[in-house]
Amino acid sequence: MTAPTTRNRRVRLAKRPDGMPDDGVWDIDDADVADIEDGQLLVRVDYVSMDPAMRGWLDDKRSYLPPVAVGDVMRAIGVGEVVASRSDGFAEGDHVTGAFGVQQYAVATPASLTRIDLSMAPLPVFLSVLGSTGLTAYFGLLDIGQPEPGDTVVVSAAAGAVGSVAGQIAKIIGCRAVGIAGGPEKCRLVVEEFGFDAAIDYRSEDVAQRLRELCPERIDVYFDNVGGDILDAALTRLDRHARVVLCGAISQYNQGRMRGPSNYMSLLVDRARMEGFLVLDYADRYAEARGRLAAWRDQGRLRSREQVLEGIDMFPEALRMLLRGDNSGKLIVAVR
Ligand SMILES: NC(=O)c1ccc[n+]([C@@H]2O[C@H](COP(=O)([O-])OP(=O)(O)OC[C@H]3O[C@@H](n4cnc5c(N)ncnc54)[C@H](OP(=O)(O)O)[C@@H]3O)[C@@H](O)[C@H]2O)c1
Repeated sequence: MTAPTTRNRRVRLAKRPDGMPDDGVWDIDDADVADIEDGQLLVRVDYVSMDPAMRGWLDDKRSYLPPVAVGDVMRAIGVGEVVASRSDGFAEGDHVTGAFGVQQYAVATPASLTRIDLSMAPLPVFLSVLGSTGLTAYFGLLDIGQPEPGDTVVVSAAAGAVGSVAGQIAKIIGCRAVGIAGGPEKCRLVVEEFGFDAAIDYRSEDVAQRLRELCPERIDVYFDNVGGDILDAALTRLDRHARVVLCGAISQYNQGRMRGPSNYMSLLVDRARMEGFLVLDYADRYAEARGRLAAWRDQGRLRSREQVLEGIDMFPEALRMLLRGDNSGKLIVAVR
């Protein structure tokens, strides 16, 4: 356990972005570490999760969470260590995860924290396979996608955090997995490291044509992380009663006006369904899912890949990396 310093470096929203968030969107400063009151505890935040959803939280639009207010610390899920406690249930030295924000110290209450067992995995893994990334892939694929052994599952952003886990789970339960990713190196990762059966490079290949070649019996489950043209291409290749899992639409997040699918009549023709979901709605089943994900990881059947950028000042560039596709696996910033 490291004793708290008196200063808390933090990233606050200075103004709302237009398109890609540049450095001027952020105000990075040092504030006093807050004093805790009875019922509270102080967490030293070690790592924060970089999530495409962060881009949406910057816009003043109705969503599943309110936008981050100008002047507030940027919202982020983190992992860290309790360094002072005036509450029951958590003691100094405990490792925890919660919505700490992009800062080095966070005041929390026990109800907002989940305990982390470091004997299961290193701390950053609780932001990837054993964190909301893994949980998103788990519930999105299994609950919404409902794949059966032998099904063909197609995943976009397949070299990314959620996509790489979704494809691996599809393989674990006996499906055929085809990934879509940007560039030859990511496509190599998708097949060689994450064990998909095939990969499509959407930057250099005709996605619709490749889906016809690689999915001769059509698509049973399409796990969509990107929206846009890739979603449209996948919709043309659905099998009857296919399930389209609407996990995210990262290709649209920097657009002022999002573009919806134009091939949606495939849902009617193929009697298919497209359903969105939010991992937050599964909180009462996180423990069950984390147990299964951890077991698969222990058995070597589920690989995690974390890309850690050092230093809280890297946050603005890390967000741009995510939105440009310069990450592979789970992007994390070490804020200590
Ligand atoms: N529903 C939920 O509860 C929930 C929870 C967490 C995340 N999500 C969603 O899951 C998706 C993946 O998130 P993640 O955390 O795993 O991020 P990630 O996949 O690790 O990183 C984002 C990836 O998206 C791809 N991408 C970026 N711009 C693109 C574009 N214009 N067209 C196509 N691909 C593009 C890039 O990969 P390439 O280089 O391969 O293009 C990039 O590496 C996001 O849409 C996110 O919003 C949903």
